[in-house]
Amino acid sequence: MEAENIINHMKDESSFEKILVIGLGQLGLPVAKYVKDKGFDVYGYDSNPLVMDNAEREHGIKKLENFKDVDVFVICISTHKENDVSTPQVDGLLALIRKISKEATNGKLVSIESTIPRGTTRKMFEILEHRFHVVHAPHRWYALEEEVHGVNQLRVIGGVCDCCLRTGIRFYDGVSHGLEKEDLEYYNGNKSYKSLGIPMYSVSSVELAELTKIIENADRYLQIAFAEDLYMFCKANQISFGELRDAINTKWNVNILEPRDGIGGHCIPKDTRMFLESSEIKSKILIAAQEVDKDYRKYIERMVKDINQINH
Ligand SMILES: NC(=O)c1ccc[n+]([C@@H]2O[C@H](COP(=O)([O-])OP(=O)(O)OC[C@H]3O[C@@H](n4cnc5c(N)ncnc54)[C@H](O)[C@@H]3O)[C@@H](O)[C@H]2O)c1
Repeated sequence: MEAENIINHMKDESSFEKILVIGLGQLGLPVAKYVKDKGFDVYGYDSNPLVMDNAEREHGIKKLENFKDVDVFVICISTHKENDVSTPQVDGLLALIRKISKEATNGKLVSIESTIPRGTTRKMFEILEHRFHVVHAPHRWYALEEEVHGVNQLRVIGGVCDCCLRTGIRFYDGVSHGLEKEDLEYYNGNKSYKSLGIPMYSVSSVELAELTKIIENADRYLQIAFAEDLYMFCKANQISFGELRDAINTKWNVNILEPRDGIGGHCIPKDTRMFLESSEIKSKILIAAQEVDKDYRKYIERMVKDINQINH
């Protein structure tokens, strides 16, 4: 996108004031707190009343039921099946978008931060009848290293249309990408509106933004599956996995991971499935990695059983 267009758009737009963070779980709560700390008028919405009450009581995130006057919707809801964390499901997102479409004022910004399958953002834009700016800014938040990999870290953003992307960038404040030095100086000197101060890396289509996130996690899946594979190889051949791994990892461009209890959590397996289901032609290496993880889980289960038997 041309820098001049971005700057002109910034001059034209009114400021963002009232922000609604939807889904106040592991990701959404820190996001809401961050947005609040940046001086915005922040509200929260969560389908779980206990989660909402906690956010209100402990963190001052005010509850909002009607979406009428909201300037920006930041969506951080779960995108897996209720009783199966590794199966993707966006039904909740669909219902939410319908509520936004019915209640919110046209022209506002809707940002999906949750992880979603390829093609989801554009579908949401259709449900919103092109009346809102819609971006996807998938999150990379990491609970165990919140200091360095928390809310304010470099992220990818894509918009359904150019004007969606411009509005999204203006809210998140990642204008360094694609701007000339003098434009950047203008931008940095322009204090007429607030933004989150999060560096964003913009891409040319919203589908590309969707893919970046699910492929990041598919890549992680592969790395862990390879560690599991190697571990089983070592056990079958009476080789110390730890010693082998330490020795290999002395090379500058190698980092063999440690296998643990199998590839779990509500992100990596689900996002890998989102990627596999994003195309008719499936990644063969990922399908093999899923098989490895299944074998590894069985192997671990057998090992635990054997140990328990010995101890009895
Ligand atoms: N947790 C992470 O480390 C992390 C990192 C990056 C991306 N993500 C992605 O962010 C999204 C949220 O993950 P999370 O870890 O915060 O999940 P979570 O389960 O901790 O929180 C999700 C919250 O959304 C609420 N919710 C679900 N459906 C809703 C609806 N229709 N309307 C309103 N509220 C609803 C739930 O009650 C819950 O409080 C997922 O797509 C996940 O893949 C998570």
